[in-house]
Amino acid sequence: MTASAPKSPPAIEAAIFDLDGVIVDTAKYHYMAWKRLANELGFDFSPEDNERLKGVSRMRSLEILLEIAGLRLDEQSKAELAERKNRWYVEYIGRLSPSEILPGVPEFIGGLRRLGVKTALASASKNAPIILENLGITRLFDAVVDGNTASRAKPDPEVFLLAAGRLGVDPCQCIVFEDAAAGVEAAHRAGMYAVGVGSPEVLRQADHVIPGFAGLDPAVILELASRRQTRCRAQ
Ligand code: BG6
Ligand code: MG
Repeated sequence: MTASAPKSPPAIEAAIFDLDGVIVDTAKYHYMAWKRLANELGFDFSPEDNERLKGVSRMRSLEILLEIAGLRLDEQSKAELAERKNRWYVEYIGRLSPSEILPGVPEFIGGLRRLGVKTALASASKNAPIILENLGITRLFDAVVDGNTASRAKPDPEVFLLAAGRLGVDPCQCIVFEDAAAGVEAAHRAGMYAVGVGSPEVLRQADHVIPGFAGLDPAVILELASRRQTRCRAQ
């Protein structure tokens, strides 16, 4: 009986990007709106507290904010507060311009596309389409899955699996770019290779961490991910 040859990892065929904190720094606008709400309710909300909201859905963010203040509210009041915060947030992001795209992002995504890699956006945000439009980068993505389509928040893998499905690519041939620990976990649960964008301390679980996209060669990252992808379910 001949031993079967070791299977080599599959080539990466699609790249899936988180939005907030990866493509654009919207965390500061979320912070301004949550702080305004906290101040109206009579308590303060620090930038450190805001770190806990990264990658977290709008309602869960509100619940964390209320936990910090020790407040318990009924569902209707919570829905009203989330809506109020969102009105302010939409006002802030209405002024977003292409100058706020994080350095190197369009070049990196453009480079991937020239290499034949499909691209998708997978975000928890219900405001993702307006943000992409205001930044002028909707056309960089073959598919967009956002908080209006996905019902389960990261670390649930739903948003990434939906994106892979829209692109018609096997999850294990996808590479994910994420700035939040919950997003890295979601990518892994989807069977995808996860690149953390930000600090290695926060993104300990990522397969690889980059500080940002400036000067990053898409071919080098693809080669790395294709060689090191070990999360394929059938491997
Ligand atoms: C995520 C952000 O991308 O989207 C979170 O990291 C935010 O901070 C979540 O709460 C939901 O966003 P939105 O725009 O639907 O309130
Ligand atoms: Mg993010």
